[in-house]
Amino acid sequence: MYLSREEERIYEGEEGWAYQIAMRILVKLGDLFEAERLIPIESAHVSGVSYKTLGDAAIEFLEALAEEGAKTRVRSTANPAGIDYDHLEEMVDLPVALQRQRRIIELYRGMGISPVLTCTPYYIRRPTEGAHLAWAESSTVIYANSILHSWTNREGGPSALAAALIGKTPDYGVHKPENREPSVLVRVEAPLRDEADYGALGIHVGRMLKDEVPVFEGLSGTEETMLKHLGSALASSGMTSIFYPCISCRGSRADLERLIVGLDDLNGASEDLSTVNREPDMIFIGCPHCSVKEVRRVALKLRGSRVRDGLRFWVCTSRFVRRKAWRYVDIIEAAGGRVITDTCAVVTWLKEIGVDVLMTNSAKTAYYAPTMNGVETVYASLDRCIEAACQG
Ligand code: F3S
Repeated sequence: MYLSREEERIYEGEEGWAYQIAMRILVKLGDLFEAERLIPIESAHVSGVSYKTLGDAAIEFLEALAEEGAKTRVRSTANPAGIDYDHLEEMVDLPVALQRQRRIIELYRGMGISPVLTCTPYYIRRPTEGAHLAWAESSTVIYANSILHSWTNREGGPSALAAALIGKTPDYGVHKPENREPSVLVRVEAPLRDEADYGALGIHVGRMLKDEVPVFEGLSGTEETMLKHLGSALASSGMTSIFYPCISCRGSRADLERLIVGLDDLNGASEDLSTVNREPDMIFIGCPHCSVKEVRRVALKLRGSRVRDGLRFWVCTSRFVRRKAWRYVDIIEAAGGRVITDTCAVVTWLKEIGVDVLMTNSAKTAYYAPTMNGVETVYASLDRCIEAACQG
């Protein structure tokens, strides 16, 4: 890979060990994917923030970077952590976890990474259309590429952090226009009524297409929230980091392979996302983290009802959205729900707080929670989640 004189100096360690290691990570990645050069980025979004998923070895690495005085060169944000310190009564009671999670957040903050602790940083500040980014977290990446028209590969935690410290990323993958072209035309021959249908569609198409780039026929004008659920599910069962919601969004339909999705496919994907048919101990809305509109939708549906005693009802979002949606937060909490920030059901401890069955309207959570959290899942629309919360 070609390096400028300044990049070479960093590579040789002339700016210290922290930047040298960051540059070496980027060069290694660039060589692996045959990038010719590094390109400047507008922002970075770093994953690997929850102590539950990160562990102690990674903290040591972050400590070492911090000791060397590592600082980000571009605007950088952090994904959800494992704890909401404002709702400790809802969280795991594990002193080590509480203390180490704080340390991780402090270390990132010290490096200049804004602890927004959300997977929807674009609700706080949208990146510029066409700007190159280095974002981690697959749902965030696919949203950035497909809905916000920014350009980012699906970074891992270390490469996003390295890019934040250098302010650049290797020029490969969907940073290249030719890799953003759609390769499969998807026709959906089934009604898509709600976010659960969009999530099931994403899981099915992701499984079928892996890393192909789908363009959907007939989803133009679809609400961004539904596309968010479609994208996060697509990026869970598949490896794609971009999709097009309509044909006019991109390219012609002439030479594309075709995939037809019918009602049976959607029902099959939906059924696979439920591992049991039992009463949940917890209902979780907010994967990916909710927008103000979604918090409002939950509040309006819950208004005048009461969450059953003993059932946890979590709506997860960022602090920024929680503050903006305070009126709706009050309604949800008055009904017995909790609007949790800084974390989510997947990256926090569930079994340890007594959850065995998790009900959710998020295909991504239903896809990952059985393995990442060891819980059973019930996958259903927001309406059915609210019904189950209030009526059982
Ligand atoms: Fe976000 Fe947690 Fe889902 S990080 S995308 S809410 S698994």
